[in-house]
Amino acid sequence: MADSGELAAVSALAQEQEVIGVKMKRDGGETTISEQREKKRKCSEDDADGYRAHKTARGDEHGTVVAQHYNMQKEIGLEARSQSRIFYLRNFNNWIKSVLINEFLDQVRRGRVGQNQPLRVLDLGCGKGGDLLKWRKGGIAHLVCADMARTAVDQCQQRYMDMKNRGGRLFTAEFICADCSKSDLRGKFQKPDEAFDLCSCQFAFHYAMESRAQVEMMLHNACAHLRRGGFFFGTTSDARELMRRHQMANVCAREENDGRAAKHENEGTTPNKGFGNEVYHVRFHDTGTSPPPIFGAKYDFHLEGVVDCPEFLVHFPLLECMAQKLGMKLVMKKTFSELFHEFVKKDNGRHLLSVMQALETYPASNGSQLVSADEMEYKHVADFLQNSSNPNDSVGTMSKSEWEAAGMYLAFAFTKQ
Ligand SMILES: C[S@@+](CC[C@H](N)C(=O)[O-])C[C@H]1O[C@@H](n2cnc3c(N)ncnc32)[C@H](O)[C@@H]1O
Repeated sequence: MADSGELAAVSALAQEQEVIGVKMKRDGGETTISEQREKKRKCSEDDADGYRAHKTARGDEHGTVVAQHYNMQKEIGLEARSQSRIFYLRNFNNWIKSVLINEFLDQVRRGRVGQNQPLRVLDLGCGKGGDLLKWRKGGIAHLVCADMARTAVDQCQQRYMDMKNRGGRLFTAEFICADCSKSDLRGKFQKPDEAFDLCSCQFAFHYAMESRAQVEMMLHNACAHLRRGGFFFGTTSDARELMRRHQMANVCAREENDGRAAKHENEGTTPNKGFGNEVYHVRFHDTGTSPPPIFGAKYDFHLEGVVDCPEFLVHFPLLECMAQKLGMKLVMKKTFSELFHEFVKKDNGRHLLSVMQALETYPASNGSQLVSADEMEYKHVADFLQNSSNPNDSVGTMSKSEWEAAGMYLAFAFTKQ
């Protein structure tokens, strides 16, 4: 990977789809994907149907389905992860989380100048503890990890113990297994009067949007135990973008098959094939309402090898209103693309992009292969290089499908007033 000083941000446009490119030094030392994945996964309707039949035949409650899904997630080693079709997307998502964590640690510290208070953090929907290292680097004093998937909590705790056994300065931690959209965490903390500086909720809030009661409880857990000046921040799906893609897919489906569309129109239904690409697929459940309901707007989400689970749209204006009632003020709401363009300009953001391998080097260096064999996945960057003054340079980028998947998310932050 090129050193951070060699990075120069550029962006290229390809077929109305903004794709990122970051210029890199060609030094032959970039990460390689040792095995090209020949078999490209196209998420078909059949896949989605199979999934639906499997999940709903047992009549499981949504929370149980989500917990079961995350309980079944296997720990995969570094080698397997590096061969994933979404290797760079996963690293990019991790980069987003890192810059957010650093940003809000900085902000909360700036707000407490002169008070050398140790920072306490709640990680809501912590999963297997993918952010433990980030919190260690951030120098916090205490972390409460909460998740409804028992296996994930156990793995998180094990990871923490492994870190502790390796020595060095580490925060204290506690682990809670609970559905945070259904039970109040207050009685579950080790310290009865627990007060947090930060609550981080990464890629988890959308699961709570099933009902008003669940959103209220999730928000209560996120905000009620925050100190004044503390932040509740996170990443979640971008409902506007999801709906835009859903509507586009429906329009395309109509145009592609006039006859079938006419039949659907007669029946008052929409041809709902869903939408997606090589790495993700989304299909909305028919709620019988248009626009979708503000709670319980459910869709099946598949992300190559990582997620295969129903989620709900996050109606953001509603979330903002509900958070306001708890004394929270929205201070940031940005798409991942906006965040990328903001943080790539900052030294630390660029440095992290490089060390976290959040972008793929194009063209592939000798002996390595790109994550996709499809040239169209890299047309944006090939065109960019062609038109640049140094067409033999290499640049950091992401395959088109991965960047489209990243484009379905946003980051948010509220502060406690
Ligand atoms: C996509 S994973 C993200 C895990 C972690 N935050 C990360 O970024 O690596 C979503 C996690 O949220 C958890 N989750 C979803 N809904 C939850 C709820 N209502 N209460 C607690 N955990 C929840 C799931 O069990 C899962 O571990």
